[in-house]
Amino acid sequence: MTEPRLLAVSDLHMGYADNRRVVDRLRPTTEGDWLIVAGDVGEKAADIERTLATLRQRFAAVLWVPGNHELWSHPSDPLPLRGEPRYRHLVELCRGVGVSTPEDPYPIWRGAGGPVTLAPLFVLYDYTFLPPGVHTQQAALELAYETGIVCADEQLLYPDPYPTREAWCRARVEYTRQRLDACDPGLPTVLINHFPVTRQPTLVLRYPQFAQWCGTELTGDWHLRYRAAAVVYGHLHIPRTTFEDGVRFEEVSLGYPREWRPRSKPAEWPRQILPVPA
Ligand SMILES: [Fe+2]
Ligand SMILES: [Fe+2]
Repeated sequence: MTEPRLLAVSDLHMGYADNRRVVDRLRPTTEGDWLIVAGDVGEKAADIERTLATLRQRFAAVLWVPGNHELWSHPSDPLPLRGEPRYRHLVELCRGVGVSTPEDPYPIWRGAGGPVTLAPLFVLYDYTFLPPGVHTQQAALELAYETGIVCADEQLLYPDPYPTREAWCRARVEYTRQRLDACDPGLPTVLINHFPVTRQPTLVLRYPQFAQWCGTELTGDWHLRYRAAAVVYGHLHIPRTTFEDGVRFEEVSLGYPREWRPRSKPAEWPRQILPVPA
């Protein structure tokens, strides 16, 4: 393989020593390889910055989108920021080490399989992925608490200055829609978001009540509307390739050691996005 590739990973969860060893070995195969990092690098701003800076030294370009773990205001992180100010701070850290974010111009991949607009997105979730048989957000949350399947975001992910996480999500969807509408309509896109942009990937969750923290119905047609050649996401820790409406969806997570260690057949990692693998 001599031509540069667009590669993707997510959910590095660098708090785990075993994951740090895996990421230590994450290298490009050509000088021109680009790397997508689709969120959940870790919880501490300093660790996130260090990891992205290291990867940027290895890869010709690095694109980052925030995961819920980056947005947590975790007691172990000395950075006292919450919500949007925390996100903006992380964006500045990325810019400082030369990493693209959802706030920067969308890079164009001009290597094999291009030209393609690469769109790092941050659209969060709004509790509209309701579990089967449940018809309201309140009922879905009650079911989650009754069954003990509650995302830690409820305690750690603040929406400041928005009143709720779903209000923050709606603002992000509106902003992102305008950005995507302004892209060159002659180019396909790669949509990159920590959370799945459609409901379908969540249908295989072991606990369906977790889906409410996994995305928003507002983005359900974006893979078609915005000409996606591929959609890259993580968050579910279920690495796989699927197709919806003929569009390739790539869940590119590493996940926790207890999840990836027992797998007899490791998912291809990092995942090649472009050129389209044979
Ligand atoms: Fe994760
Ligand atoms: Fe996540």
